Amino acid sequence: MSRQLHFTAFLKPPGEYLAAWRHPDTQADAGIDFDTVLSFARTAELAKFDAVFFADLVGVPLESQDVLSRVSVVNDSFEPTTLLAALAAATSRIGLIATASTTYNQPSHLARTFATIDHISGGRAGWNVVTSLNDGEALNFGRDAHVGHADRYARAEEFFDAVTGLWDSTGSRPVIVQAGASEAGKQFAARVAEVVFSGQRDLARATDFYAEIKQRAASFGRSPDELKVFPALSVITGETRAAAEAKRDVLRGLMPPQVALAHLAYLLGGFDLTGYPLDGPLPELPESNQSKSTQLDVYLRARQRGLTIRQLAAEISDDASTIVGPPEEIADHIERWFTAPAADGFTLVFPYLPGTLDDFVQLVLPILRRRGLFRARYDGATLRDHLGLGRPTSRYGPP
Ligand SMILES: Cc1cc2nc3c(=O)[nH]c(=O)nc-3n(C[C@H](O)[C@H](O)[C@H](O)COP(=O)(O)O)c2cc1C
Repeated sequence: MSRQLHFTAFLKPPGEYLAAWRHPDTQADAGIDFDTVLSFARTAELAKFDAVFFADLVGVPLESQDVLSRVSVVNDSFEPTTLLAALAAATSRIGLIATASTTYNQPSHLARTFATIDHISGGRAGWNVVTSLNDGEALNFGRDAHVGHADRYARAEEFFDAVTGLWDSTGSRPVIVQAGASEAGKQFAARVAEVVFSGQRDLARATDFYAEIKQRAASFGRSPDELKVFPALSVITGETRAAAEAKRDVLRGLMPPQVALAHLAYLLGGFDLTGYPLDGPLPELPESNQSKSTQLDVYLRARQRGLTIRQLAAEISDDASTIVGPPEEIADHIERWFTAPAADGFTLVFPYLPGTLDDFVQLVLPILRRRGLFRARYDGATLRDHLGLGRPTSRYGPP
């Protein structure tokens, strides 16, 4: 069979867009309503997605009450490994990926949790390995500030070896997912990841990243097929361009300006923008201890196009990377990235749920199927089967 696309549904009810909870077609508390989350997972399973995938922060970002009271996703979501256990019992084929931090956990505990989910689900578990992002998370674990970037990755390397050592001794092998974008992050991903979620927004950079990460994997003695690259993709579509743009415009009107500014400050690495004129340029920034690549991305976007702070905040909050258009155009975009190659599949990010998930499934997937690019049924039972991944050999020998 020809090379096939893969999709994971990155579910952040009621949607990735920070003001999604205000949308007339969303449920504001969807993130803590199991039946609703399950209905999204079932939609993804009926559509034959490879997996659903849940993010996690182990603390609330240090924002003002004013801002926190105007966003939902960071406050109202389930602890994802517990959620996976419940979803495992209520679904049968779809892969189940949860995010868990190597900075604020212990290896034996996490190894046990994911091995349990893998057994309950019949081999459908995946672990998105993260090192955590912000100081708000550190405060929940007896620290004044987040652990430094280099130390986080040194710990992650050792943590991974401890977890997989335990799995090798018990026979369970959840799929390893990673999204490192810094030098340390990419080296870690190249050594351990079986799926890499990436955040590149343009085709040229995504194509370079794809080649680079596969090459780095080869330097660890791995075959390029052992590591799949799934860039994040956010889509708003409708029967026509006008219908898609109208949906985008509804969302645009929902964002409170103070949330847009706070979100920008967060993406810049927690840099406090208070006191800088909104209609002036972005100031020089100290290097972030959060995501260095995101900070640089946003900084360059402002500098290269001469955007003011106000313009940048509006553009970021709108998530300019969301592709808005009719289904054929979305399918063309996906096919272009897939054949470049810049992607083996995509991490689908949904601006609001269930609307943008339903639209993708009903309007875009049929086109990709007609083009012979995406499965109409599951051939296997496990997440490894769906992804076309073999089972890593145990360091203790057969089986
Ligand atoms: C699609 C996607 C989802 C992510 N989800 C999480 C998450 O749930 N929790 C988290 O702490 N970090 C998350 N991250 C951040 C990454 O783990 C990583 O820190 C980031 O890509 C920056 O790379 P770096 O750590 O190498 O600087 C995500 C990144 C991407 C691209």
